[in-house]
Amino acid sequence: MPLVAANWKMNPNDAGDALDLVRGVLSVARGHADRVEVAIFPPFPWLLSISEVLAESGVKLGAQDCFWETSGAYTGEVSPAMLKGWCDWVIIGHSERRIVLGETDEMVAKKTVAALGCDMGVIMCVGDRIEQYEAGSSDQVVEAQVTAGLANCSADDSARLVIAYEPVWAIGTGKSADPEHAYRTMRLIRRVVGDLIGAGAAKKVRVLYGGSVNSSNVESFVELPLCDGVLVGGASLDAAEFAHIVKVTAEVYGHR
Ligand code: 13P
Repeated sequence: MPLVAANWKMNPNDAGDALDLVRGVLSVARGHADRVEVAIFPPFPWLLSISEVLAESGVKLGAQDCFWETSGAYTGEVSPAMLKGWCDWVIIGHSERRIVLGETDEMVAKKTVAALGCDMGVIMCVGDRIEQYEAGSSDQVVEAQVTAGLANCSADDSARLVIAYEPVWAIGTGKSADPEHAYRTMRLIRRVVGDLIGAGAAKKVRVLYGGSVNSSNVESFVELPLCDGVLVGGASLDAAEFAHIVKVTAEVYGHR
């Protein structure tokens, strides 16, 4: 089933606005729950209240990050064990964490295996920067990130593993990647997963595109043969816009 994931990032600042947004999304998303998996990733402080709104709806909840240890003296961190049981998903290795907070491939690998070990699904993000894209080294960058991020994974993890290709130059810029480029990179990701953890895993792992996805361009990505959905940032903060993205995805996959 395709996955449409809403990464709210550090928004909204008001608890009431967060609840309004999730209710707006839910009113449309629940009608497509049999054809599209929808997951919402709010900031940590809103997770609990949003989990109550989403209960029994079929719409999934996720965290935007987690730490790799279960508990201990790690001020400010949230462990996967704390999220286990009520968060279905966690995003790991988003480029904003890699670039702004210095998160390394090694940290991404440790977080990924820790979250999978707590029975959560992981959306591991990879992506090239503009200078790498312009230098023609996108493939090497993405291959290295996938290889390092999956260092501790096995084929058993593949059903709960999602890899999102989010070119850094397409995030928040309004300029999404060319679908042909996205397709070739998603094909590369699947090939690398196959080399690392086996051909069966390469089929099971879901691969998403993210970066300036909106209701006008979503179809050009979800219609790509190897694309299992989208990871949406800015457009997921508008309930009507996000609902439209879910609807288009449901229609495209319904025709496959
Ligand atoms: P935008 O959709 O705002 O470009 O953000 C994409 C993203 O970073 C999702 O994780």
